[in-house]
Amino acid sequence: MKILVTGRDGQVGWELSRALAPLAEVTSLDRSGLDLAKSDAIRTTVRAFRPDIIVNAAAYTAVDKAENEPELAQAINEQGPQVLAEEAKRCNALLIHYSTDYVFDGHKASPYVEDDQTNPLSVYGRSKLDGEQAIQSAGCRYLILRTAWVYAARGKNFMRTIMRLARERPELRVVNDQFGAPTSAPAIADATASIVDALFKGSGDHGIFHLTAAGRASWFDFAELIVKASGPPYPVVHPIPASEYPTPAQRPGNSCLDNAKLARVFGITLADWRVEAQRILTGLRQTAPTPSQKA
Ligand SMILES: NC(=O)c1ccc[n+]([C@@H]2O[C@H](COP(=O)([O-])OP(=O)(O)OC[C@H]3O[C@@H](n4cnc5c(N)ncnc54)[C@H](OP(=O)(O)O)[C@@H]3O)[C@@H](O)[C@H]2O)c1
Repeated sequence: MKILVTGRDGQVGWELSRALAPLAEVTSLDRSGLDLAKSDAIRTTVRAFRPDIIVNAAAYTAVDKAENEPELAQAINEQGPQVLAEEAKRCNALLIHYSTDYVFDGHKASPYVEDDQTNPLSVYGRSKLDGEQAIQSAGCRYLILRTAWVYAARGKNFMRTIMRLARERPELRVVNDQFGAPTSAPAIADATASIVDALFKGSGDHGIFHLTAAGRASWFDFAELIVKASGPPYPVVHPIPASEYPTPAQRPGNSCLDNAKLARVFGITLADWRVEAQRILTGLRQTAPTPSQKA
């Protein structure tokens, strides 16, 4: 079995190389090995490799910047996945692709299920929804895993930003009226490997699945946990409404995704967001240089 992973150096892509390695022969490509904005290069690479599974962890993920770069976001998040899906169909490969809570507008009062009405509020969300629909139309076997609020010990993410700000500032102001489930890249990669393993064994199914950590948090809740678990200095964290932190891209108020389908079909349930966040923060604390090492 051969698995081709795109987005090798991204948060999820990096963890996939580790998580999938015991299951198959894995080749992970960064942007220079497979550029999702270049259709011909995608076709050439997939045809040369002839994978059994393609896992697309590459994406245009700069949510605010996308408001000024809609064509590029669309090329990477819609057209690239469409070509991947066409090539997956051509070589009878399964395409596993990641999508986002930002396909929803966040107005629902309870967690979103897979069939709920989509209505993206941002260019990024629109481009990811268009990518989902392009994959569904291409006629390949696919799994679209919608996740949310992704973080890891490496890469650009909320956890690492708060850790840095906590060292620099005595007070932080963090949005407390947007809700979701912070989900770690290692947990996403491990769940993806469990899905692949189940499919190898003839169980599970294809289609769209929600894949987030259990529980519910605001950005303020997440920031408080990060600050407390990172050790001193402890800045004061103030809750604020999103209206006091304007951003170029509008974000959903409710980003909570219902994971019952994933549990029912694959028997997979991710841990509560606090458990995984504590685990990653403990690892970061242990690898952080001590003051004497820094000097
Ligand atoms: N991050 C989140 O909070 C979040 C939330 C919900 C869903 N998701 C989805 O989860 C998936 C993984 O996200 P992530 O957090 O791992 O993203 P990430 O850390 O931003 O990584 C994205 C990767 O895609 C690569 N990439 C960008 N443009 C490319 C192109 N034209 N061709 C090939 N590679 C390209 C980037 O490479 P460079 O380093 O070269 O730019 C980077 O390695 C994505 O589908 C994303 O939409 C993420």
